[in-house]
Amino acid sequence: MSDRALKLAPSATLEVVAKAKQLKREGKPVISFGAGEPDFTSPPAAVQAAVDAIKRGETHYTPTSGIPELKEAIQTYYLQRFGLDYRPDEILVGAGAKPLLYEAFACLLNPGDEVLLFAPAWVSYVEQISLCDGRPVVLDTSANDFFPTREQIAEAITPRTVGILVNTPNNPTGAVYPGSLLEEIAGIAQENGLWVIFDEIYERLVYGEAVHSNILSVVPSLRSSTLLINGVSKAYAMTGWRIGYALGPKQLIEKMGGVQGHLTSNPTSISQWASAAAIKNAETDVESMRKAFEERRTLILKALKEMPLIRVTEPQGAFYVFVDARNCIGKSYRGQILSDDVAFCKALLEGEFVAAVPGSAFLAPGFIRVSYSNSAEEITEGMSRLNRFLSEL
Ligand SMILES: Cc1ncc(COP(=O)(O)O)c(C=O)c1O
Repeated sequence: MSDRALKLAPSATLEVVAKAKQLKREGKPVISFGAGEPDFTSPPAAVQAAVDAIKRGETHYTPTSGIPELKEAIQTYYLQRFGLDYRPDEILVGAGAKPLLYEAFACLLNPGDEVLLFAPAWVSYVEQISLCDGRPVVLDTSANDFFPTREQIAEAITPRTVGILVNTPNNPTGAVYPGSLLEEIAGIAQENGLWVIFDEIYERLVYGEAVHSNILSVVPSLRSSTLLINGVSKAYAMTGWRIGYALGPKQLIEKMGGVQGHLTSNPTSISQWASAAAIKNAETDVESMRKAFEERRTLILKALKEMPLIRVTEPQGAFYVFVDARNCIGKSYRGQILSDDVAFCKALLEGEFVAAVPGSAFLAPGFIRVSYSNSAEEITEGMSRLNRFLSEL
């Protein structure tokens, strides 16, 4: 095995979900708060377009970078939603946002080049940067309600810094970065000649007064050094279709397309047709799913805020609550010491059949991620079990 392969940490989110599924198969009454995906079905418009595409015989290779119909849908979407005009040769469609991020790191990083990212952070960023021989520089935001500060970013920049990775709305914290913070990040990036990789895959899922800001709507002059990452997984409940897209300067998009050409070729033809239909014709579905998430968020926050030992920072977007369980670490549950967040989640799953993801998977030990992508009944029952678990510590 290569050093690269040996260094790779398994995806802890997938691990917990797998363990919860296994217990469910064994007939245990598992309630999972581990999911990283909406529990809704994909929009009917997408499903119908996929069936039609199969029947028409759209079952062959497509252009590596995506079919023109999907790129046009993305182009129109970005123009209408953010006032940003990207031509088809500035758009790359991939098999999810995940491989596109990898392709970006592969194109931007030489060995030892540094990328700043803000923890808690989504599991795959650090692993992908390391796989591309880069160095992830992780800045902890947990003391500041999960927002990085200007000073923190400025201090971390070295001659090897190549880019800043921004994820808003954030997985796992649900933080939605205000325009003023994005302006500061953009300013630092411009002063230091850095790339900004802007992952806005949860942009449709914001609640209450929160508004999602695209960094280029705030600072248009950053466009030549910014890569936008988005996809249909979260907004359209289409995780299994595997379609994401990147928008950026032509030169970078072309190079990333070159990597993709050797990696996956085009993303699935059928999924591309389904995604074009979703982007064009599923606005009502997106809004009704968002509303359902908003109601669940209210329900889960109310329950969590009344529980002992834990602390909650109100998330404004995505579908996660990132719970501070540091006060629980070191306590014992049924004779077993909860030595860290992994032990906490294991005991919770085994004792109450409630699945959540340990914060260390997001570079934030002592926290747990609770996803509210499940029914109101499951949330109510699951939260009452969590409450019982905490009361027993
Ligand atoms: C922050 C973030 N970015 C990107 C992705 C990748 O999404 P996909 O590959 O399904 O498009 C995810 C999925 O969980 C995510 O949470």
